[in-house]
Amino acid sequence: MAFKINDTITWVGKIDWELRNFHGEEYSTHKGSSYNSYLLRDEKTVLIDTVWQPFTKEFIANLKKEINLDEIDYIIANHSEVDHSGALPELMKEIPGTPIYCTKNGAKMLKAHYHEDWNFIEVKTGDTLEIGKNKLIFIEARMLHWPDSMFTYLTGDNILFSNDAFGQHFASEEMYNDKIDKGELFQEAIKYYANILTPFSPLVVKKIQEVLSFNLPVDMICPSHGVIWREVPIQIINRYVEWANNYQENQITIIYDTMWNATRRMAETIAEGIKDVNEDIVVKIYNSSKNDKNDIIAEVFKSKAILVGSSTINKGILSSTAAILEMMKGLEFKEKKAAAFGSYGWGGEGIKIITKQLEEGGFEIMKDGIKELWNPNRDALDRCRNYGNSIGEALKEKE
Ligand code: FEO
Repeated sequence: MAFKINDTITWVGKIDWELRNFHGEEYSTHKGSSYNSYLLRDEKTVLIDTVWQPFTKEFIANLKKEINLDEIDYIIANHSEVDHSGALPELMKEIPGTPIYCTKNGAKMLKAHYHEDWNFIEVKTGDTLEIGKNKLIFIEARMLHWPDSMFTYLTGDNILFSNDAFGQHFASEEMYNDKIDKGELFQEAIKYYANILTPFSPLVVKKIQEVLSFNLPVDMICPSHGVIWREVPIQIINRYVEWANNYQENQITIIYDTMWNATRRMAETIAEGIKDVNEDIVVKIYNSSKNDKNDIIAEVFKSKAILVGSSTINKGILSSTAAILEMMKGLEFKEKKAAAFGSYGWGGEGIKIITKQLEEGGFEIMKDGIKELWNPNRDALDRCRNYGNSIGEALKEKE
């Protein structure tokens, strides 16, 4: 499959309908993904990024239907991660010596991945490459999301090839934002941001300010995953600015795991207590052992507060709770509140452990945790409801 975006650009990537996990098992891709590769034909011919290694043969065969490979003058590697560089080793066997434009870190990383001494041309922000009527301008985008990441801007057509930034893991026959359901699109975009870009939010703001300061018109944003932003492309830039500024909605997310349902009953009763006093707040409840961890992270991203609960087991906490706490620690959420809860039988160490992990993850502890012995009786559930009341009060939006 290939399709023309305009007279200059042809999409030559791969839609991966079957992909359900990405980064090993770290990121769920319920809707698959795509690896977007773009062929630019001006006086010079340029290939921007490739696809993941398992699709190498298909990619090269499709590319050959579009062009004699010898006609490719330049390759741009905006990012060295294998989902975009995976086809390079086979491609470079066909066209050895073709210059590969990338950042200094990009060259280092591609060498470390493939142990090949290809013809790397290292570029920096502001460097340009004349390709005929138009030119390419390179913009380093360090840590968005790897040290090597780079954007490439095409003058004339005013297109930003942003690689992972502004992307989504979303396989769709319709490759433009105006052709697909906006709710689904933004859900995938925010999940991507929450799970991958959150730790780099301060850099996102700076980079967007820098790109906007160039006063380059942007008529289209072509990311390396998912759909192309053709209709009002600034909308995803604006969303990124919002998301990067410690985004939150009027939401609290309750995440728990439970052995014999005591902690589940606590979670549900606390939720009721919150709603008793705070009708406006959105309360969402997830059992971390039964729900997708990345979907939960997207909800945490939207929340102004979270509650995390677990039964105490072996002086510790349940493994799915530990896993989600570890993920949240790495993502370094800012300006979010949190508290712990859980049932226990004797030691009751769980809530202390959860509280400590939340603190280490940068959450502001809004209240001491609540623990209840064995199966909560009416008094215990009343305490949970009161606990929910106080959380609900504390989270009321100011008039
Ligand atoms: Fe889509 Fe960072 O690779």
